[in-house]
Amino acid sequence: MTNNKIYFIANWKMYGTLHSVQSLKNVIKLKNKQIYNKAKIIYCPPYTLLELFSKSIKKTKLELGAQNCHFHSEYGAFTGSVNSKMIKNVGCKYVILGHSENRISGDSDKIINLKVKSSIKENLKIIFCIGETLKEKKKNKTNLILKKQLINGLRNIKNKKNIIFAYEPVWSIGTGIIPKSNDLENQILQIKHFLKRKFRIKHPTVLYGGSVSPKNISALNQISSINGFLIGGASQNSKKFIDIIKKTIN
Ligand code: PGA
Repeated sequence: MTNNKIYFIANWKMYGTLHSVQSLKNVIKLKNKQIYNKAKIIYCPPYTLLELFSKSIKKTKLELGAQNCHFHSEYGAFTGSVNSKMIKNVGCKYVILGHSENRISGDSDKIINLKVKSSIKENLKIIFCIGETLKEKKKNKTNLILKKQLINGLRNIKNKKNIIFAYEPVWSIGTGIIPKSNDLENQILQIKHFLKRKFRIKHPTVLYGGSVSPKNISALNQISSINGFLIGGASQNSKKFIDIIKKTIN
């Protein structure tokens, strides 16, 4: 996947009602060519808003993604679930997989691997999340954990061209804390090196996620190895989201 544009992925998590489309519309109003030449803006609202958002972004340069999908690639008796076919059908081009909030609630590497396979089958682009907990970081296990998540999550996946990666330290998500610049730069470079060496991905795209905000974006933008951002809390507020994009692009 090309990585010369900067990614801004809005992960709305379990937030948003029908009225929230206004936040998206404020971003659509940003008819700034320069931004779209340099940025890829992808909205990942909850399932309930996918159809509305899909309609709203028609004729715009914005793209749509889902926050997850079921591992079963066919239709079936899985109450409360949505699979890759269904998110594709509603207009998604992307899907976030391996997010720590889903790992915590039961997604094993093996399940994530099945989700990757079923998403590839549907030609979806995958935002594959990896990240260590604070406990793992304190035990100096970060690299071990990230490698395990990558090796097991991508097992037997030959075609990795539609996969981009998001490094999201669990201790950074929703806490307001971001890694020190040097540490983050090193970590992103190490992840890229591993993806190149182990998986033969020539130009891996690696995003950063965890408490990205208008306040810390200038510091994050100093880290040249980062290819974009996966943004939770700040992405629901269009003013903050636009601010992050503008501070990065300008
Ligand atoms: P946050 O979430 O920006 O609210 O920390 C990021 C994420 O979970 O993807």
